[in-house]
This record gives sequence, C-alpha cells and structure tokens, in this order.
Amino acid sequence: MEKLVNKQIVLGVTGSIAAYKAAELVRRLRDAGAEVRVVMTQGATEFVSPMTFQALSGHPVHLTLLDTDAEAGMGHIELARWADAILVAPASADFIARLTHGRADDLLSAVCLASDVPLALAPAMNNKMWHNPATQDNVQRLASRGVLMLGPDEGGQACGETGAGRLQAPEELLAGLAELFESGLLSGKTVMITAGPTRETIDPVRYLSNRSSGKMGFAIATAAAEAGARVILVAGPVAQTTPSHVQRLDVESAQEMFDTVLANINGVDIFIGAAAVADYRPVQVATAKIKKDGGSLRLELEPTPDILAEIKARYPGLFCVGFAAETHDLQTFAQEKRYRKGMDMIAANWVGPAATETDGAFGSETNALLVYWEGGGVELPVAAKSHLARQLLMHIAQQYEQHAAHPAEQKVVSLTTPDRH
Ligand SMILES: Cc1cc2nc3c(=O)[nH]c(=O)nc-3n(C[C@H](O)[C@H](O)[C@H](O)COP(=O)(O)O)c2cc1C
Repeated sequence: MEKLVNKQIVLGVTGSIAAYKAAELVRRLRDAGAEVRVVMTQGATEFVSPMTFQALSGHPVHLTLLDTDAEAGMGHIELARWADAILVAPASADFIARLTHGRADDLLSAVCLASDVPLALAPAMNNKMWHNPATQDNVQRLASRGVLMLGPDEGGQACGETGAGRLQAPEELLAGLAELFESGLLSGKTVMITAGPTRETIDPVRYLSNRSSGKMGFAIATAAAEAGARVILVAGPVAQTTPSHVQRLDVESAQEMFDTVLANINGVDIFIGAAAVADYRPVQVATAKIKKDGGSLRLELEPTPDILAEIKARYPGLFCVGFAAETHDLQTFAQEKRYRKGMDMIAANWVGPAATETDGAFGSETNALLVYWEGGGVELPVAAKSHLARQLLMHIAQQYEQHAAHPAEQKVVSLTTPDRH
C-alpha cells in the first residue's frame, strides 16, 4: 500500500458495535507507513477504551471539542490542517446525519467541517438503519459533495440479523483510502520540477551553496506523481529519497541544472522551479586547492543562468511556476518576481529569522506559502510540506487548466493580494 507511506491520517471512530475493528485498522495503517491520529466520539468510548487506540497509534487520542488543553496543543483546526485525509471507520448513522447537516458540536464533526482534505466514511450499522430512507438520503448527499463511501458490506450482523451494514474489511478500507491519493488531476501531463540547492565550485574541495534541503521540491514531485503526472525531477545535491514513479536527474551546479532542464524540456506541460539555484558562481574555478596564506581572499562572482526566466523566454507557452524565498517584504518581492520573470504562478515563503517565527522553510518539515497567479492568489497556512505540496498542486492544476483554455489572457499582469484560505 505504497500510496499511504508518510500520509497523515485522522481516523475517526464513532459509537458503533464495530468500533473494536478500528483497532486493527490503526495497526494496518501504520504497517502501511501512515501516521495516525485517532479522534473518538463520546459514543465510541462506550465501546472501546481510548487507551487501546493510544497504544496502537502511539499518540494521545483526541476526545473532546471544548477542551482547553487540546485547543492549546492540537485542537480541531490543527487536526484538520495536519491531516492529509480523514477516514471515519466505523461511521455511525448518527454521525453520518450530523455530517450531512454540517454540525460541529463534537470534535470529530468539527474536524471534518474544518477540513478541506479528502474524506472517506465506512458506515457500519444494523441493516434497517442503513436502508432507512433518512440514512440513504444522507449518504447520497454526502457522496454528491465528494465524500467517499467505503462499504458497507453485507453479511451476518452483531444484532443477529443479516444484510447490508457490516464494516468493510481492513484491507478494503486501506485500498479505498489509498484511492483518495490518486486524484488523476494531472493525468496525461508531464511535470518537470527542480529541487534542492546548487553547488558552485570554488576549488576541488570547496563550493558556494545554500541551506535548501530539497524537501519541498521532492514533496511536490511525490504529489504530482500521485496526481497522475509523468514527473521529471531535476535535483541538486540533497539527501532525499527518490519518490516512486518519478524520473530523477541529479545535477550539481546551476549551469548543469539549466542544461539538464533544457535537454529534457520537450513535451513538458508544467515547469515548477522549486530549486534554490545559486544566483552567483566564481568567475575562476581553481584547479588546485586554494592555500591559506594569511591574507584576505577575494572571490569574483558572476551571475548564473536564470533558469525560470530563460525557460519562460524560450518557451512562452509553457506553464511556469516559480518559488520565492525572502527574508523580508515577501508579498512585494514575490509578486514583483512573478511579473519580472513572466511566470504564471509563484509560491512564496519566508526564510531566515522571519521563518522561524512563522513556519520554518529551509530544512524543516513544515512550511507556509503565499501563492499568486494572474488576478488572484491564496494563502496556504503552516502545514506539513507533503500536505502543502498537494494543496499547491491542486491550485497549479486549476490554473493550468485555465491557462490551457485561454492562453492569451495570461499576458495581463497585475499585483494582487491573496485571499485567506
Ligand atoms: C449496543 C449498541 C450498539 C450500537 N451499534 C451501532 C452501530 O453499529 N451503528 C450505528 O450507527 N449505531 C449504533 N448504535 C447507536 C449509536 O451508538 C448512537 O446512535 C450514538 O448516538 C452514536 O453516536 P456517535 O456517532 O457520536 O458515536 C449502537 C448503540 C448501542 C447501545
């Protein structure tokens, strides 16, 4: 179940007789490489002890909405932001009704309402409850809003009756959950992503570089592959594992990155420049190690190729997304950079001291992005880079569709402020 590796799953457990089966589900999810946080309704705790889920998930179980301690740590908003997907298994008839009506008077309902990540429900109930028109109506309304229904299965029930209403088996639930990560949003498209830093050689043992870890670019490559794209990842020197179904081309210097991008650009639909490419390189590269002679040393630097600007200039029809990392005036610099380089979109984040107060950026597991495009934008608040990458790709896919439908309109450029997400 490769699709669940490193995914952050909120597992909701509600007051069904099948609640004990969710314990096995937690184990299977973790075996599949997912990280799990369990949210139990009051009803669920009558069937299974939270201690069981705490031990199996390795994390405290989230139980109440109006809990001041929990709000200070990971309240409903934070859980909603943390999740890559939410699975409610078992989902009671009552919970399904609450969700249909947008109720938020218990923690699990509030998390679901506050989240925009994929949501799957695994109903489990007596077959008459399941077939009741009220339940069927609720299920149809939820399905029409994009909620994935997993099951229920048919068979013998705890109440002694036989029929539809059994919780799906764990392996089917895992397979269904994995489907949530196969959006097909970029099926048939080729996406090229640059990631990581570059190294500009000074002498055989020294180089100029920066603190980029490549995590964000690799997360975008993972998300693009999940969205069905053919992905080419041009990576600077980083210690990151190559995502599945991604063609990785390793480079070292800005010039090598530029040459590799150019050599492979034919057939690319979307170019995402997430690498922190060095702006300057030494004019002279010493062939032998520079010796310390006690005096000062002057390095003369020259600009490296501006990969994004060059690509956009040579291939004006190619949909180009850039990144901006700034220590100050993020909004202004990011929009100015998008305008100057003719990019279709830009994703901007803080780096340096400003970043530590807000999100982290270089090297950290989390980030926050301001994303701008022609006539609009969006703020993606602090979240895991994997989560942000998926959200960013969703916006990229939307803007790409518009660009493909109305290419001429992309030429008009204005400076706008993103909406709050
Ligand atoms: C012994 C027992 C078993 C129950 N099993 C189910 C069930 O399998 N499915 C269901 O929808 N409701 C079941 N219920 C009813 C729910 O527990 C009840 O509707 C509760 O309000 C659900 O709340 P929750 O969704 O917040 O957990 C059961 C109740 C009892 C007493």
